[in-house]
Parts: sequence; C-alpha cells; structure tokens
Amino acid sequence: MTSEDFQSWVHARQARMESALEACLPEADVQPRRLHGAMRYAVLGGGKRVRPLLVHAAGELAGADEAKVQFASCAVELIHAYSLVHDDLPSMDDDVLRRGKPTCHVEYDEATALLVGDSLQSLAFEVLASDRLSGKNQVEMIRLLAHASGSRGMAGGQAIDLESVGKRLDLPELEAMHIRKTGELIRASVLLGAYCGKINEAELAKLDHFAKSIGLAFQVIDDVLDAESSTATLGKTAGKDSQDNKPTYVSLLGAKAAREMAEELHGSALESLSMFGDRASRLAEMASFVVRRQF
Ligand code: IPE
Ligand code: IPE
Ligand code: MG
Ligand code: MG
Ligand code: MG
Repeated sequence: MTSEDFQSWVHARQARMESALEACLPEADVQPRRLHGAMRYAVLGGGKRVRPLLVHAAGELAGADEAKVQFASCAVELIHAYSLVHDDLPSMDDDVLRRGKPTCHVEYDEATALLVGDSLQSLAFEVLASDRLSGKNQVEMIRLLAHASGSRGMAGGQAIDLESVGKRLDLPELEAMHIRKTGELIRASVLLGAYCGKINEAELAKLDHFAKSIGLAFQVIDDVLDAESSTATLGKTAGKDSQDNKPTYVSLLGAKAAREMAEELHGSALESLSMFGDRASRLAEMASFVVRRQF
C-alpha cells in the first residue's frame, strides 16, 4: 500500500472540513440571519485548519473512526474561529484583516462579532456532545476542550497577552502566556484525536508531550512570521506585534533565536513519537508543517 502524499492528505482533509463545518453551522437564511451569516463568514472559506489536521493525524494513529474525528475537528475549529474573531476586536488586537478578508467586526459590527464568538463557542460544545461521539471518552473530551478554551487555557492566555502590552516578560513568563493562549488548544486537538480511537496511558503521555511541544512552537513561529512575513502572504496585518508593543519571542530573543527554539521544540516533539513507529508518520509531518509553514 502506498502512503498518500502529505500534500494531498492535507488538501483532502481541508476540503472535507469545509463541508463538515458548513453542515454544523446554521444556514444564513435562518433567523437571526445577520448573526448566522456572520458566523459562517468567520468560519468558512479560509484558514489552514491546522487544529483539525492534528485531530485527524492523532485519530489515524489511534485507529479512530473518520466520522468521529470529523466531529471533534469541527468542535476545535469552531473554538479557534471564535478566538480569532474576539482576538481581532478593537478592544483586543484591533485588526482589520483576517484570512485575507476584513475581520468580522469590520464586515459586520462589534456587537455581532461578540455574539459570533459566543455562539461559535456554544456550538463547539453542542457538536462535541453529539450522539456521534458517544462513548466512554466523550465527557473527558468535553472537559478537555472546556479547559483548553477557558481562563486556564486560551482565554487566560489572551488576558495575560493584553496585560503584557508594553512590558518586558522574561522567557518563563512568555512561555506561560504562549502555552495558554495557543498551546492548550493545539494540545487539545491532538488529545481529542487520540480519544476518538483507542489509546493507552503510556501512549497518551507521549502524545501529550508531542502536543505541548508543537503547541508552543506554533506560537513561536506565529511571532516570527508576524515580524518577517508580509500582509499579503499572511492574510493578516504583518508587523502588528511590534506596532502594538507586544512581548513576543522575536522581541525577546530576536527572530533567529526564536526560529532555533521552534526547531528545538520540533526535535523534542519528534522524539516523543519514536515509540509509535510508522503509525505516527502523519503527526510527524504535521510537526514539520507547523514549524516550517510560510503563513
Ligand atoms: C492564528 O492561528 C492565531 C494563533 C493562535 C497564533 P492560525 O495560524 O492557525 O490561523 P488560521 O486558522 O490558519 O487562519
Ligand atoms: C492569538 O495570538 C491567539 C489566539 C488565541 C487567537 P495572536 O494575536 O498573535 O494571533 P494573530 O497573529 O492575530 O493571528
Ligand atoms: Mg492576540
Ligand atoms: Mg492578534
Ligand atoms: Mg500573532
């Protein structure tokens, strides 16, 4: 059996994700039409879908059923899309461009963007609680995503990010912020994929280490790209972190050392996959994708 090439594997799953997300979002002609239209605007037709791809890669390792993986992927991507809508609000990063389009509050209005975030978050848990995911791990999956999204995860990391504007954080403080604001949701993606299939405690511990390493590396590279790439390539405003005086891995270490750190995390992530052999090849490819991406 020949292994599907990574690029085609990614493209096939990105396309399937688009249909799956489309199916779980309310139709735009159902009341309240403006809110539903804005939810669809914020979720569909863009984004790399890194978190769903990680759910899929971990799901494949754990021999999971594809339909289950699709539901778990939708739940994570809905949380992620909500986090982007709120991240871009004038009271947060005040950004006008996201995924190559005007941000949700620019295209609609701020109140709608707030409600889009609220609604996508609720929808994520509705999807995760669906019958299609019923089984002994379902409650643990809900707990995991709730923890990763809340004040000890993404939302908490965002709070630290906002409090840190104009301050110099040291490396452990910066790491703690990045782990929460971005790492936890990436970690949850890998673990949710594993929970969709069969996994033992020792395997789960290795996957957890893998997920923590690439979760942090993901945000380190986001900081590097913000400093080194262009608005056209990123589909979001480049140079925004230094403009806003945000502490980042680039402001603290410089871009070169930040990249080196991401490479170290990449190496450490790959080491934790060694016990799985070929079963982990998609996850290994995803780790490279996270660290070597151009946008
Ligand atoms: C951007 O995430 C926000 C961060 C958490 C760093 P992505 O780079 O995954 O954004 P999309 O989904 O591809 O647009
Ligand atoms: C965002 O970090 C993390 C989220 C939880 C959305 P950033 O503020 O750096 O993300 P971008 O660069 O705007 O995508
Ligand atoms: Mg931000
Ligand atoms: Mg931002
Ligand atoms: Mg950024």
